[in-house]
Amino acid sequence: MPIIAPSLLASNFLRLEDECKMLNESQADWFHLDVMDGRFVPNISFGLPVISQIRKTTKKVCDVHLMIEEPEKYAEAFKKAGADRLTVHYEACTHLHRNIQQIKSLDMKAAVALNPATPVDLLSDILHDLDMVLIMSVNPGFGGQEFIPHTFQKIRNLRRMIHERGLQTLIQIDGGVSTENAASIVKAGADVLVAGSNVFQSNDPKATIHTLKNCY
Ligand code: DX5
Ligand code: ZN
Repeated sequence: MPIIAPSLLASNFLRLEDECKMLNESQADWFHLDVMDGRFVPNISFGLPVISQIRKTTKKVCDVHLMIEEPEKYAEAFKKAGADRLTVHYEACTHLHRNIQQIKSLDMKAAVALNPATPVDLLSDILHDLDMVLIMSVNPGFGGQEFIPHTFQKIRNLRRMIHERGLQTLIQIDGGVSTENAASIVKAGADVLVAGSNVFQSNDPKATIHTLKNCY
């Protein structure tokens, strides 16, 4: 069964406590929290104070996806805000190895995200240090975009790399994931599905999460 990580970016921020309660009652495994700085991506979302509040509502895993420049400046602050897992972008890190070690030394799971144009092969010399790779299936910055089909090939390539090396690295897919394409994404080799608009804009978010969880 895939790990399901609904993205609160698509939730109703005026009713954030209810949205968290819904996720707690659902089959969601992780809370996916998208942080955008208006520099690495052309959009600004939410940050530390909001994540601290969300942390108080749940015992589930808080999976923080940093779409920001210089993520090393904020890793400790996100740990304090309650992040269990921290994802940084390959394209935003000059010293990726150092950044990954920093996240692990703060006792969080460490992941690297790849933009659609960034090949998985570039992770060859860091893969064994990663708990997870996030393959972006849209250009980061906005919810509600269409899944880029080439992602399937990237998932298969990464799955092969992980298998050949005997690693346990998780593969997470983020962007345009829905009950329509979830089964094919899992079949290609994904372990973790992020879904924003498909979950929060559905008439019955809990039922949608259930369908995603049982899509395989
Ligand atoms: C996009 C974010 C995603 C976004 C996904 O930059 O990283 O997590 O919330 O939204 P949907 O599922 O609507 O594509
Ligand atoms: Zn995300």
